[in-house]
Amino acid sequence: MEKENDNPFRDGLVNRAVAEPCALVIFGATGDLTRRKLIPALYNLAADGNLPSGLAVVCFARRDKTSEGFREELGEAARKYSRRPVNDELWSRFAANIFYHRSSFDDPAGYASLGKELESLEARLGTRGNRLFYLASSPTEFDVILENLRSSGLSHAQPGAWARLIVEKPFGTDLPSAHRLNEAVAAAFPEDETFRIDHYLGKETAQNLMVLRFANTVFEALWNHRYVENVQITASEPLGVETRAGYYEQSGALRDMVQNHLLQLLCLTAMEPPTDLSADAVRDEKVKVLRALRPLTGKSVAENVVRAQYTAGFINGSDVPGYREEPGVAPDSKTETYVALRLHIDNWRWAGVPFFVRVGKRLPKSGTEIAIQFRPTPPVLFNRESQLQDANALVIRIQPDEGISFRMAAKMPGALLQIEPVKMDFHYGTSFGKATPEAYERLLLDAMSGDATLFARRDEVEHAWSFIDGIRKAWQDGEAPRLDFYPAGTWGPREADELLAQDGATWRRL
Ligand code: BG6
Repeated sequence: MEKENDNPFRDGLVNRAVAEPCALVIFGATGDLTRRKLIPALYNLAADGNLPSGLAVVCFARRDKTSEGFREELGEAARKYSRRPVNDELWSRFAANIFYHRSSFDDPAGYASLGKELESLEARLGTRGNRLFYLASSPTEFDVILENLRSSGLSHAQPGAWARLIVEKPFGTDLPSAHRLNEAVAAAFPEDETFRIDHYLGKETAQNLMVLRFANTVFEALWNHRYVENVQITASEPLGVETRAGYYEQSGALRDMVQNHLLQLLCLTAMEPPTDLSADAVRDEKVKVLRALRPLTGKSVAENVVRAQYTAGFINGSDVPGYREEPGVAPDSKTETYVALRLHIDNWRWAGVPFFVRVGKRLPKSGTEIAIQFRPTPPVLFNRESQLQDANALVIRIQPDEGISFRMAAKMPGALLQIEPVKMDFHYGTSFGKATPEAYERLLLDAMSGDATLFARRDEVEHAWSFIDGIRKAWQDGEAPRLDFYPAGTWGPREADELLAQDGATWRRL
């Protein structure tokens, strides 16, 4: 019997750019990001055969270390953080191309010697003169590194090769600082060689959002104010501030998570279909969403934003301290560890549909999801007493247990007419039977192949900051001064429930 073709899609659709040989230079490589994320991601790419044959990783940092010693440290980290067990032989081959370059960030001699080292690696390892510079240091060093890359000539592409920049978050702390940083970046690298990281864009389900919407007929037809009652985007973490109080005290949940990750998810959910799949076409559509976001300023912040901080509580079977008792946190800190917002996108598609966004630390469960809550059926037949209020919901689980589920009403078996919600559920793990790559794997690969689709463009970052700054200004000016509290291990403050109740809605249970 002829085998049925179970793949109805064109092979061309799996077409993807190929990572090119290059030297990856990581500034601030002794930090956590390199050991927890970047090196494990590169190792897994190597194990999947996705790395280019000519690749050198140069770790640029201040501490006194040797390449051999640093490789060992990274090997331990890879064993701890890699998503697949580390194979000793593969690790040794991979690690042989990691080099430690010791220098302070402001010493021109360190950049001159980096240039020499890159030339020698290019000749030895076949990296073809391509250079990918990764700013993974403290953001306070970004300016000086960029200035030195520019003045040393390292940021200029060599003939027939490219020079690219990856910038880790946070990209500024407000609009003026993001704008200044953008200027410093632009003085050294062209925009199309600049890759601003938002690791949420590298998550498999975030990427799947576009496929769900634009490769299926049924969903997009309903994806508008006529059928959608509200949209809920949640990012919940049981973790507290951990060892990051120094950063988090200055940042808070609004700047740490909403300005970047959650606004990106909002854009992917709300944007119009792009004209094609090029980086700029997709990013043009995301920018349009940000421009249509109704600004929250002054009094409207008090009406639409809840900010809160966790107090002592009980989570995963243990007592945990309140935020103000965490090491490095001021005893009267006003930093928010939770924020819930009601947003409106004032365009044709979304007029009148509230987008509820919430993010918090020390919540009961780890989970990031986007829920499209559809309007109820008319109040006739089965919905005469409005008992089917929230029958249909499409939930996109970004993490963990990546997948998509659709909730609908069904009749319970039996003589009685009893209607219950049931779920159609798609799980990545079981449907595709393979592990989901980490976001950094995809993002590093894309930067090596020059595809900026999953990176934030300059105007995107600035629009997002402009929106966030309006909220922060109202908080600072005392126009929306209230900080609410919630015990660790609960789903946030009562005020966040009241925010939804005003629209007759409730938060989804994760
Ligand atoms: C980071 C934030 O960008 O994202 C952290 O700085 C947060 O505070 C983290 O914990 C969450 O990322 P993930 O991938 O674990 O959801």
